[in-house]
Amino acid sequence: MTNAVDLTALEEELKADISGAQSLHALEDVRVATLGKKGRVSALMQTLGKLPPDERKAFGQSVNGVKTRVSEALDARKATLEAAALELRLATERADVTLPVRLGPEAEGRIHPVSQAMEELAEIFADMGFSVAEGPDIETDDNNFTKLNIPEEHPARQDQDTFYFHPNSDGERLVLRTHTSSVQIRTMLRQKPPIRIIAPGRVYRSDSDQTHTPMFHQIEALVIDEETHMGHLKWTLEEMFRAFFEVDEVTMRLRSSFFPFTEPSAEIDLAADVIGKPGQWLEIGGCGMVHPNVLRNCGIDPERYQGFAFGMGIDRMAMLKYGLPDLRDFFSGDMRWLKHYGFSVLDMPSLAGGLSS
Ligand code: DAH
Repeated sequence: MTNAVDLTALEEELKADISGAQSLHALEDVRVATLGKKGRVSALMQTLGKLPPDERKAFGQSVNGVKTRVSEALDARKATLEAAALELRLATERADVTLPVRLGPEAEGRIHPVSQAMEELAEIFADMGFSVAEGPDIETDDNNFTKLNIPEEHPARQDQDTFYFHPNSDGERLVLRTHTSSVQIRTMLRQKPPIRIIAPGRVYRSDSDQTHTPMFHQIEALVIDEETHMGHLKWTLEEMFRAFFEVDEVTMRLRSSFFPFTEPSAEIDLAADVIGKPGQWLEIGGCGMVHPNVLRNCGIDPERYQGFAFGMGIDRMAMLKYGLPDLRDFFSGDMRWLKHYGFSVLDMPSLAGGLSS
């Protein structure tokens, strides 16, 4: 049959075109010229109707056979070309991860030791199941004092050298928060126990000398549950100090003290061995069991729930850990200081990778 011979030649030719196509684009042209509406195989199909009926069936089958095989050849070639294109991209876009980081302007920047200490503490407490809570620097008198069991005439209000705003039209007087303890209140008003939060942030007191700046940083912790006790408090503090100072053991002392919002209350002292000064104690912060009045003020039943809280100076802890001599340098904005004492932007503190390595 002459037709069959033609078809064999045509198939060979088309297959040659297909394997000759060097790009996906060229291959698509071949596909359109072959199987497209006006393609060569499609055109053959259209001649079927003009054939005598006895030839029609055999010829139709042959053309379909060609069509199927050519389609397969097209698919195979397409897969080959796509794989080659991917190989090429992988080869040209390969990143050598062993190369040192290219020093762009980002590398000039430094993480401030206070931010570093906050990040490290957040990492440590996250590992113990605490989440991070926040509150505003400008706080109500109520959250900063009254709900913390510090009534209007209480001497603790004077102790803290508060920055007051002018009273607003409702007679309400806002303050720059004097401690992060206000975030305890905000958390308890918002959230039912069990509660486990830390709250790092800025605090303000009208006080300034070599060891005091009008703005400084604290970290607050609050745990409220049904069976929380001083033992949990002590363990949590010790765990935190060991992790933060990256030592196996710390010696800590809870010294009986007074805060209106805790009962009993204690001052937290740390043996100065951690910074190479054996025999001395460092005052790090305050702590205690949350006062029943404070729980009541926040709508939590003190018969059912109790918990502990502590607050510490972050600047102080950063000075101790990183060996920073003068607190005032923290806020002087001196780039030379920051270059020397700051941390690389690329080293995020993690318990696995080292906090401040
Ligand atoms: N707010 C206190 C201060 O700034 C520190 C403090 C003491 C916080 C005892 C606490 C605490 O949570 O329980 O001096």
